[in-house]
Amino acid sequence: MMDVVKASLDDVEAIRSLIEYHAANGKMLLRSLSYIYENIRDYFVVREDGEVLGCCALHVSWRDLAEVKSLAVREDRIGKGVGKALLEAALKEAREMGIPRVFTLTLEKDFFVRNGFELVPKDELPMKIWGECIYCPKYPDCDEAALIYQF
Ligand SMILES: CC(C)(COP(=O)(O)OP(=O)(O)OC[C@H]1O[C@@H](n2cnc3c(N)ncnc32)[C@H](O)[C@@H]1OP(=O)(O)O)[C@@H](O)C(=O)NCCC(=O)NCCS
Repeated sequence: MMDVVKASLDDVEAIRSLIEYHAANGKMLLRSLSYIYENIRDYFVVREDGEVLGCCALHVSWRDLAEVKSLAVREDRIGKGVGKALLEAALKEAREMGIPRVFTLTLEKDFFVRNGFELVPKDELPMKIWGECIYCPKYPDCDEAALIYQF
């Protein structure tokens, strides 16, 4: 069993490094240290011997909608179940909060389909969630897919 825990303030630098690594490869949106500190209560991590192997955030968007963000696994641990464990922890939290739908915007649509999400047209998501797209270097040429998990 992979031990997924809520992130602590001591994990912030490691989370930042993980996201920075994958963002440099064009896989995800870069997050500033300031952003991660401000949203640290959204994050889950998997740790081993004090090192962060992966991170994932669940961000509440509305009464009936939350977003999975910043799912990232350390390069040397990809393909070993860390991503799935993090995603399951985020979905469990959404379910416990009574949130019926969880969406994500990603380049890794096959991973999310494999783990229970369904592709949806982007215009089915509320306008509100597009606010941070202006921080994406690809804006307005978005190549991400929108997917939803429904309980
Ligand atoms: C995408 C990512 C989070 C997957 O995490 P991971 O730990 O490698 O995945 P897991 O080992 O937990 O895989 C869980 C399941 O998904 C499948 N899977 C993993 N990566 C996949 C992919 N890229 N496409 C399709 N299926 C995938 C696995 O085969 C496994 O299936 P199984 O349960 O039937 O055996 C990881 O590769 C990563 O960090 N990528 C870079 C950052 C990124 O693109 N994040 C995406 C969200 S923005």
